[in-house]
Amino acid sequence: MTWWQDAVIYQIYPRSFADSNRDGVGDLRGITAHLDHLTWLGVDALWLNPITASPNADWGYDVADFCAVDPELGTLDDLDGLVAAAGEHDLRVVLDIVPNHTSVEHPWFVESRSSRDNPKRDWYVWADPAPGGGAPNNWVSTFAGDAWELDPTTGQHYLHNFLVEQADLNWWNPEVREEFERILAFWFDRGVAGFRIDVAHMLVKDAELRDNPAATEDANWLDQLRGQVQRYNTNQPEVHALYRRWRELAASYEPSRLLLGETFVTDVPDVVSFYGADDELHLAFDIPFTLAPFTPDALRGVVEETEELMPPGCVPCYTLGNHDLNRFASRWCDGDDAKVRLALLVFFGLRGALVLYYGDELGLPDTPVTRDRRLDPLGRDAERTPMPWRAEPGAGFTEPGVAPWLPFGDLSINVADQRDDLGSVLSFTRDLIELRRSEPDLGRGESETLTADGALWVWRRGEQTVVATNFGDEPTTVADLDGVVRIGTDRARAGERVEGTLHLAPHTGVIMRRA
Ligand code: GLC
Ligand code: CA
Repeated sequence: MTWWQDAVIYQIYPRSFADSNRDGVGDLRGITAHLDHLTWLGVDALWLNPITASPNADWGYDVADFCAVDPELGTLDDLDGLVAAAGEHDLRVVLDIVPNHTSVEHPWFVESRSSRDNPKRDWYVWADPAPGGGAPNNWVSTFAGDAWELDPTTGQHYLHNFLVEQADLNWWNPEVREEFERILAFWFDRGVAGFRIDVAHMLVKDAELRDNPAATEDANWLDQLRGQVQRYNTNQPEVHALYRRWRELAASYEPSRLLLGETFVTDVPDVVSFYGADDELHLAFDIPFTLAPFTPDALRGVVEETEELMPPGCVPCYTLGNHDLNRFASRWCDGDDAKVRLALLVFFGLRGALVLYYGDELGLPDTPVTRDRRLDPLGRDAERTPMPWRAEPGAGFTEPGVAPWLPFGDLSINVADQRDDLGSVLSFTRDLIELRRSEPDLGRGESETLTADGALWVWRRGEQTVVATNFGDEPTTVADLDGVVRIGTDRARAGERVEGTLHLAPHTGVIMRRA
């Protein structure tokens, strides 16, 4: 059992956590200054969205130097300081790596596009126009539109599976593979505990660049949305050998470093494939869970399928949301406090590694961002706004009077007030994490559905622990249950003895220890 297999990993969007130098942008020193929040919350690690140098066409995901910290966020010394300070609190630091593409401003691409015989030419995916002109094939970008851009200097197109400012690397090229092994080692040597790997399923593309087939009715919903099945521009079998190699590299460190994939695939069998035979990624985000609607059937379906297909020795990795999706409090719960608590109870009742997005511990909803303040080309600003630390000018995020890079939301939801309130969502989150620590069954114990009936979903964790949830608008009961409530969405229920019948009000749940 390694540390991450039942860990709570806290995701920080660095620009929005805490600003230490009054420029309105969160930074590494700001994070270091707020580690007490994470130790108080009880998480095991923090994952930072990209901190590497970037012109920010896609806010850090267009990397211009994989081994330099973006000056707006700080310096390498600041990162070393953060890793050291975190270590003193038993917190590990996980970084984000973006191996699928680079910024078009990366020196590799500047060279690559300069001529057809440049030594870096083959580091990217270049192709001749189709006979008669136009894109080399029919691939569409994840961010909509054609995935190819004609470069007038050499008359060829380069591939961009995302923005036109993000050129896809050519993972068939051994030099690219070697370079990334050096980059991983560079950070591992600095004491970084692991990586979240951006679009981990995408790196390798069809060597012949064949056209994608049109999406028919049996295609998954994402492919239907795009109009084509992404058969050839993503999820190629050869990517697995790459992760077996990275796994060896991670294991050559003591302790082993974590590889957590952003495997943005819509089917559970595809998610699970990234664990290999427990010899590829240690964890792969269970995206189907996060994208499921907030109904017991949908969530249970994903969890059961994940449990069934998970290779021996491996554990799932769930999240309620992240910097790409509307916050769970809005997306799943319409801001309804009872549903927010129910979602958190479900989440912390799951087996495996859990990733908690900053602000979600408060039940923070999306922040309305008016059109003129939007900065993300895809409009993902609502879930990326500054952390509300306190209800005062600057929100405790920056100095009063400094304009934050994205607007503050409603500051009545904030860390300081909720910390002082034992009935708050924040206190509930903290207590759920605490329960996971004191009751190892909750993190590690086997997971099995006991009852699934309409709005009711009851599952067992290990031998003794039971999670019981009512998603419905009507009260309901669970029969044949004896034990003690450890925690409930209704906080007053802790310690309640259940003898035979458990009553559950609408949108409530409990975690119990069975007699
Ligand atoms: C991932 C990131 C997202 C980014 C995209 C391209 O999905 O989470 O924020 O835009 O990759 O790098
Ligand atoms: Ca700053």
